[in-house]
Amino acid sequence: MGDLRTVLQEMAALPADRPMGMPGAFYTSAQQFEWEKSTVLRKGWHCLGRTDEIPEPGDFFTVQLLDEPLIVVRGDDDQIRILANVCRHRGMPLAEGRGTAKRFVCSYHAWMYGRDGTLLRAARMNNAGFDSKNCRLHGHNMQIWQGFIYCNLDAEAAPFGPEATALDTMLTPYETDKFRVVHVAEENWHTNWKCLVENFMEGYHLSVVHPQTLHEYTPTGLATKSVSGPGFTSYWANYPDNIPSRGQGAPGLSAAQRQRSSLFARFPTQVASQAASLLVSISIFPLAADLIRVKWTMSVYGDDLEDETIQSRIKLWEEVNREDREKLEKMQVALKSQHAAAGPLASEDYEGTVRDFQLWLAEQDASFGPQTQAAE
Ligand code: FES
Ligand SMILES: [Fe+2]
Repeated sequence: MGDLRTVLQEMAALPADRPMGMPGAFYTSAQQFEWEKSTVLRKGWHCLGRTDEIPEPGDFFTVQLLDEPLIVVRGDDDQIRILANVCRHRGMPLAEGRGTAKRFVCSYHAWMYGRDGTLLRAARMNNAGFDSKNCRLHGHNMQIWQGFIYCNLDAEAAPFGPEATALDTMLTPYETDKFRVVHVAEENWHTNWKCLVENFMEGYHLSVVHPQTLHEYTPTGLATKSVSGPGFTSYWANYPDNIPSRGQGAPGLSAAQRQRSSLFARFPTQVASQAASLLVSISIFPLAADLIRVKWTMSVYGDDLEDETIQSRIKLWEEVNREDREKLEKMQVALKSQHAAAGPLASEDYEGTVRDFQLWLAEQDASFGPQTQAAE
């Protein structure tokens, strides 16, 4: 495990034209996962979903981020809050799934909380030492960016991505913040969280893994690396010239921008594809070294796409995700092999994004200093 930290620094130090991936243990070791949980994941900003999943006061959804069950709720003041989904009495979760709630009432002893986390009622609590004001639900750090909701579990967290200005420049013409959500789905995949980040962010596999679903629009051969910087990377999946563009999207888009999908990652756990009329974002919730919960949302630009087209896009993405999942779940088994050594990575346009992720992980890891006994 300590070894993997050293290997990560060694790989990151390789010359740019001789990049190597990481060995299998990086993706399968339970100790490595525990270390990441207490460092790079704990301190990172994680996308939980889209703001318009919860458009009205009281609308909420729940997620599990590392060890923290969360309620993401819109309050009466229209503000979105991220509350600990843990009753202040004896720890029962207060809500499940998604819905609309006037109040959150605990299913165990009926303590009642407001949409802002205030404890409103606790029946029969007549001990002198009880003060309901000391029993509000914990609120986590929250940020909204481009219509996405982000959370950081670390009270001392570094501020949310002022570094991603280049990513803003890429997305602003698409009016990403205006996209409206049309589909949300969740499922568990038996893979390591980093494998899905890498898979989504490289164009090298597109024509091989998705010959029927994606190859016609986004063949591997047309993939090009785009902007990257601290905390993010991106590439363009360009469409062939003879392919008609799919929806107009925002008025300020150039012809070239309409003729490609911009795939970006905000590290550690969000990957997304921004096209003129369609935005797909995947939030990866790491559960174990070999298990993730995948939440993906599809959003569209205004009324650009007919309902029928939206339905066929949902079907297409379900199929694309199934194709990727099948590969990643098989690979997860093979990565346990003693022979899953570090392999060479492809060039900038095809796997430069994987290299960017590795460099970011290495930089983050170096900042965490020597390992404590507890994390070993
Ligand atoms: S655990 Fe919630 S009211 Fe007792
Ligand atoms: Fe894929």
